[in-house]
Amino acid sequence: MRVVFVSDLHGNMKLYHEMLAYALQNKAKCVVIGGDLLPTRIDRLWKLLHGTADFSPALHTQLDFIDGFLGPLFADFTSRHPDVSILYIPGNHDWHLAVEHLKTAVPAALCLHGRTETIDGVAFTGYGCTNDSLFWVKDFVRRDLHGSGYVRSRYPMVSTETGVLPSREGAYALKRPSMEEELSSIATGRGVGHVCVFHCPPFGSGLDTLYTGKPIGSKAITRFIAEHSPLVSLHGHIHEAPYMSGFYRCTIGKTLAVNPGHHPGRLHAVAFDTDNPAQSLTHSIFGTGAVSRGVFARAIDRRARLVKGFFMKKVLARQGQASPLVSDGRR
Ligand SMILES: [Fe+2]
Repeated sequence: MRVVFVSDLHGNMKLYHEMLAYALQNKAKCVVIGGDLLPTRIDRLWKLLHGTADFSPALHTQLDFIDGFLGPLFADFTSRHPDVSILYIPGNHDWHLAVEHLKTAVPAALCLHGRTETIDGVAFTGYGCTNDSLFWVKDFVRRDLHGSGYVRSRYPMVSTETGVLPSREGAYALKRPSMEEELSSIATGRGVGHVCVFHCPPFGSGLDTLYTGKPIGSKAITRFIAEHSPLVSLHGHIHEAPYMSGFYRCTIGKTLAVNPGHHPGRLHAVAFDTDNPAQSLTHSIFGTGAVSRGVFARAIDRRARLVKGFFMKKVLARQGQASPLVSDGRR
């Protein structure tokens, strides 16, 4: 089966259109989207500085995007191309309530989070949670391993039926199972598919290399892949990783692992055949070759990310904390 995979479109309408065109061009029977599906928007950014930001509009932006764009787009595509399936998982920038709305409002696409779906004999298993960061949306954030800590941040927000509320003292992490525990229950449920889809990349694989050069992926996912050896493992979350590590694919044991990366100006997607993924894998920009980008463009990107990182640490880190990581020392 021919599969197309993208991740981290973050509500970019142009990239959604390009994704579907790329799927048709590649004769894909399955389009897989690896999380961070919906727009991330804060109306009055300056309020973050004062600790008075209101995140309810951010949730409504995602709900409106589903009703006004994503639902009609997917419904139209699947009615014209009923032989092409659309699968997705959430990411850490997607609110839980928005994803629940997407499931009911857009039945043409299937949510894979925490479960396995078989299409034309190929089993797909998905899991959208990530280990923690300073970002405010905590619905799909977990501790990585059983004893891992959480990141102490200024805005630890979760979506609830009564609105978007703060989840203080790491409750969103400490009161939920870790990624390691959730992944083990997926594996013992309906089993692990041929193709696994994770928003988070595996730790230390190069698919998780941040703009600082540091790995930031999940150790639980690395262990899961090593233990279960899916044919292919698809990842996103760290947009710049291919440009930092110099590759968008690697092998972990017998598994072909992929992070196509993301840039808002150009679709970063991969296509492959499940019969022969390692040989057939191709990238929408890099083809089958190495990752390349101009030195000047990379320098600008890195500067922009450094500024963003500085902003996050100054504004989103919980004030008065020397280190934002609250941990028992196991990670
Ligand atoms: Fe993400």
